[in-house]
Amino acid sequence: MHNIAILASGSGSNAENIARRFHDKGNARVAIVMSNKTDATVHDRMAALDVDTLTFPNEIWDKEPQLIIDELVRHNIDLIVLAGFLRKIHPAIVRAYRGRMVNIHPSLLPAYGGKGMYGRRVHEAVIASGETRTGATVHYVTDEMDEGEIVMQESIAVLPDDTATTLEARIHDLEFDLYPRAIESILQHLPDKGTPGSTHV
Ligand code: GAR
Repeated sequence: MHNIAILASGSGSNAENIARRFHDKGNARVAIVMSNKTDATVHDRMAALDVDTLTFPNEIWDKEPQLIIDELVRHNIDLIVLAGFLRKIHPAIVRAYRGRMVNIHPSLLPAYGGKGMYGRRVHEAVIASGETRTGATVHYVTDEMDEGEIVMQESIAVLPDDTATTLEARIHDLEFDLYPRAIESILQHLPDKGTPGSTHV
């Protein structure tokens, strides 16, 4: 059994989708959801699924990474899954979980990635640039934002009458299919019960 930690700052629709998928499969489970916001909707979604959540304020994420690592170790976490987590991950956490931490980004990285590019803003930029295709990318987390090795990437068409809202909804549908598949494929290569610092890459 692999233990997953999800990091989320907002709505948490990907977190809910992943928690449901792995609950049904039985070979992995979402052991904890960590956030930087006490009022994020992800807490309500997880309460309904009986998944524990924890909030650390931004100062802890930025200055006390060991407290977060301690919590991850306490939950025996094998894989950290970022799902709309809008805070840069401290290098100490990246180092401890290198090859064991992934993010999903709502574009075809490296396009429309980097600082300031998240959520709805990405879709607005894609439409403003007249792109005909966009997509979603699952990648390993490194110290450089949105630049880690790509695990899986899939594209969809941008329709002529798309708005940021319609595009965001279709990208979410794509993410709900793509992210659990990417996680599943990573888990197949991970030994059980990872210790921080151990990696398969
Ligand atoms: C998702 O579309 C995810 O790709 C994006 O935030 C959304 C979170 O939605 N992440 C980023 O933009 C990261 N740079 P959710 O909270 O409903 O899962």
